[in-house]
Amino acid sequence: MTVIISDQKTPDALLVPLVQNDRLNSLLADLALRVGMDAATLQQDFRAESKETLILYPKNGGPEKRLYLLGLGKKCTFADLQMALRGFSHRTKSKLPAQLGVDLRHFPASEAPRLAEATLTGLSMGLYDIGRFRTGTEKTIPAFGSETSELTVLVPSESLPAALPVARRSEVFAATAKKILDLMNAPGNFKTPLMLADWVKQHAVEHGFGVRMLHVDAIEKERLGALYAVGKGSPNPPVLILLEYGNKSADTPVIGLVGKGITFDTGGISLKPSANMHYMKSDMGGAAAVLGAFMVAAQLKLPVRLIGAIPAAENMVDGVAVKPGDVITTYAGKTVEVTDTDAEGRLVLADALAYLLKEETPEVLIDLATLTGSIIRAIGTQAGGLFTSNDQLAAALTASGDACGERLWRMPMWEEYGSDLKSDVADLRNYTGKPMAESISAAKFLEHFTSAHPAWAHLDIAGMAFADSEFAQTKSATAYGVRLLTEFIEQWKKAGDAL
Ligand code: BES
Ligand code: MN
Ligand code: ZN
Repeated sequence: MTVIISDQKTPDALLVPLVQNDRLNSLLADLALRVGMDAATLQQDFRAESKETLILYPKNGGPEKRLYLLGLGKKCTFADLQMALRGFSHRTKSKLPAQLGVDLRHFPASEAPRLAEATLTGLSMGLYDIGRFRTGTEKTIPAFGSETSELTVLVPSESLPAALPVARRSEVFAATAKKILDLMNAPGNFKTPLMLADWVKQHAVEHGFGVRMLHVDAIEKERLGALYAVGKGSPNPPVLILLEYGNKSADTPVIGLVGKGITFDTGGISLKPSANMHYMKSDMGGAAAVLGAFMVAAQLKLPVRLIGAIPAAENMVDGVAVKPGDVITTYAGKTVEVTDTDAEGRLVLADALAYLLKEETPEVLIDLATLTGSIIRAIGTQAGGLFTSNDQLAAALTASGDACGERLWRMPMWEEYGSDLKSDVADLRNYTGKPMAESISAAKFLEHFTSAHPAWAHLDIAGMAFADSEFAQTKSATAYGVRLLTEFIEQWKKAGDAL
């Protein structure tokens, strides 16, 4: 698909997204004139409610053969528009023509570049096909998504220079998001730790970032005892995936990203109930977000240095699996009593955080993890939980999330919540034993492995990475975090200025 950003081209099929605001009636009157129909009839029949769609077929020889009116409801943020266009494309893709235009000329020029980016990303993401493993259905690529298809976004003339670069940006975001969706939706038997490692290698070569692996022998030898313990109950061995993008230089900020990469979480010997266990193929949502951020940063050549660590393991039930009560020694040297083998995420993250910090000290350190059911009970599925003691970092991450709709909500890091992690037999235990504030005590556990880094944030994305949507029958991947991280990286000034 070729993307064109223009202020005048007139494709013969044009999509017009419309907001329910005080300009709606006059815009509808203009459209009615364009297609040669009565304004009052159109204003009566189309109210721009969210997802409302109306197709008009102009008879009066104008430039367009079809006009699709798409209602956006009352709000039109970046996220709303992206979601509306993804929905439209998802629902209508098989019927859309190879040449489609989207008219954004009625939006304020200052907002148009950003809205064009949301439009293009959304339309392209709507073409995502979740049914990779379905047989019998013909895999025909719709005319609209084909290689020769053409998508034109019309923006106000004044915004054209600023809007031009979003063609490539949105292409990078959409292509990356679709790969991340595929990775997240992939079942556990197609996504063992080593298969994940291979996937990363391929994309590192393709996009130009560095990758190194610590395989199980090295994990044991280098004493990453927590990652080793979590992985040892599975015939599919664990691996620590280390990522690197951009060079070391005095004025390049270094950002560290760590993502939980549990490719399947049965809970281990502290076994999970079976009802929703299949969803635990998505327990590598943190890893997916980190990978997406590396892929986007490398493709857009962002002026930053990123270092990353993904502890990948399968948390299984087995005769040699780690048992409740076992004491393990983490890479940082601290001993942990594993009181619950289902609290495995914090164990693998502990080693990944400590390992990353041993190699290099980033100015900002962010970990992302589908860490606790507790964060879903606390704040639901509208925001990820943000845990940090650094107010400036909290503000910057929150702002990035608000700007792209991948919201974060700050949670407390009060010391009192950490005291329940005291163990009688080891330095720490991994579960408090109290069914309360579990997402907070998980964050307090991780804090022990950050060497008191002054700009560390933990994002608990258990409610966000895999969710209900209009795009699938059951919960499915969202690619949450990819845009949030990228926008944060783009906005982040050198730590010296910001902290
Ligand atoms: N991967 C789960 C958390 C999770 C739950 C993610 C639901 C997505 C949806 C994590 O490893 C886990 O099992 N957490 C336990 C922690 C508890 C034992 C302290 C939980 O949330 O119950
Ligand atoms: Mn678990
Ligand atoms: Zn888990």
